[in-house]
Amino acid sequence: MTTLQQEVLSRRTFAIISHPDAGKTTLTEQLLLFGGAIRAAGTVKGKKTGKYATSDWMEIEKQRGISVTSSVMQFDYDGKRVNILDTPGHQDFSEDTYRTLMAVDSAVMIIDAAKGIEAQTLKLFKVCKMRGIPIFTFINKLDRQGREPLEIMEELEEVLGIESYAMNWPIGMGKEFLGIYDRHHKRIEQFRVDEQDRFLSLNEEGELEGDYLIKQSGLYDQALEDIMLLNEAGNDFSYERLAKGEITPVFFGSALTNFGVQTFLETYLQFAPSPLPRQSDIGAIDPVAEEFSGFVFKIQANMNPAHRDRIAFLRICSGKFERGMAVQLARTGKTIKLSSSTSFLADDRSTVDVAVSGDIIGIYDTGNYQIGDTITEGKRAFQFEKLPQFTPELFMRVTAKNVMKQKHFHKGINQLVQEGAIQLYKTLRTEDVILGAVGQLQFEVFEHRMKNEYNVDVMMENIGSKIARWIENETEVTESMSSSRSMLVKDRHNRLVFLFENDFAMRWFVDKHPSIKLYSLL
Ligand code: G4P
Repeated sequence: MTTLQQEVLSRRTFAIISHPDAGKTTLTEQLLLFGGAIRAAGTVKGKKTGKYATSDWMEIEKQRGISVTSSVMQFDYDGKRVNILDTPGHQDFSEDTYRTLMAVDSAVMIIDAAKGIEAQTLKLFKVCKMRGIPIFTFINKLDRQGREPLEIMEELEEVLGIESYAMNWPIGMGKEFLGIYDRHHKRIEQFRVDEQDRFLSLNEEGELEGDYLIKQSGLYDQALEDIMLLNEAGNDFSYERLAKGEITPVFFGSALTNFGVQTFLETYLQFAPSPLPRQSDIGAIDPVAEEFSGFVFKIQANMNPAHRDRIAFLRICSGKFERGMAVQLARTGKTIKLSSSTSFLADDRSTVDVAVSGDIIGIYDTGNYQIGDTITEGKRAFQFEKLPQFTPELFMRVTAKNVMKQKHFHKGINQLVQEGAIQLYKTLRTEDVILGAVGQLQFEVFEHRMKNEYNVDVMMENIGSKIARWIENETEVTESMSSSRSMLVKDRHNRLVFLFENDFAMRWFVDKHPSIKLYSLL
């Protein structure tokens, strides 16, 4: 095996999908502690960021310059190099959050045992499901009273439509949480006991032999009963189906008390895939091919006017990155020297010298890159598959405050739209500009950048959240079908789109115009 092959095989690149407060930051910190990337909990600053109001966020951005340090976290464990890509939630939620999922090879879904599946988890899950990547589930906060584990498993299947396989099973919960029955390792992991008592081996029948305190609790018997039920009526574990994202292995634990996290990490590393070939317009690109390639999945603009630099986040898909290498930007054919690049660590931003498929590098950008751009080395010119466009949910009508600034206004909008910061729609006759976003933050960033980069003050009129639907048979649509509750606009590719006030308005429309075939993007 070549060194490059070895390096690539050791990569595990994933994102955590969860609803705010499920414990993403806490779990990430524990993982980084295991990997030795941080020395104390409370270091991942994203934890607090999530709780700032958006206006504070601007201030923080200004103070710290480009906030990339926690966007990608890297650590080594058990001979593997792990890359965790951050998926911002709360006010930081944006299309970038979705696009980040295009750059990972697997996902870890955290669910709060008391709350079950929540809105943001569902949205992010759908993107992962569409990509068919493996999804690992961590049911968190078992140290608190939550829902019945069987109920949670059922919810996974019903709400998400994914089959599940319990890798382990809780013995009790909340104040009576005793540990987990680890089906995979055939052992019991005890909660809050001395290290030497932590693991108890199970016999062939999957039971404890000998006198153990835990056996005296009815909760142990209850867990055995549940396990029997799972063995008989539950799904079988299949690596092939996990690899295709058809079945999710489920782990129970408590991130805060660092319980079940190490077992989770080790099992995850065993089953999660290393980088796989990625589709391009000349066929699949092998991650161990010698020639370097990658694509840009995110561009982070500096919110500090004193620093106009931006960082393009590149996912490496083949070959080896070396500082100073010359690459081609497929879209323009331009040759660019990659001299200033950074890799990302939790508590430091350090310069990267070598990185391979699966790794993420940040490239200082003076305006060369767009989201979705392919970068290649060598003679073969190709482009990776386009990144999908996501269905926006929030809309604003936008005008320039100063009518004399129309030219700058349109230039700014066009560039920011091309870059993927925001989506552009126009009303049919008057061509009013309507911007669409999946997260409120995108509007704030838009307003800020229009002022700082294009010197245009904009007026934004909130027209609220809408359900956007594209139309399969456009020719059958007439303007008379639109109303204040079903606004007809066109997107930047001139496709017609209905913006429905709410679910009710959409159903009403579908009833009234059964021949019109609506569809949503992702
Ligand atoms: P997030 O990044 O997904 O938004 O969640 P985060 O890790 O910040 O966790 C949200 C809250 O849940 C935090 O409490 C955290 O301490 C708590 N938490 C995380 N994992 C567990 C767990 O396994 N058990 C219990 N009982 N709590 C857990 P907070 O009070 O909101 O924040 P903090 O003030 O403690 O930081």
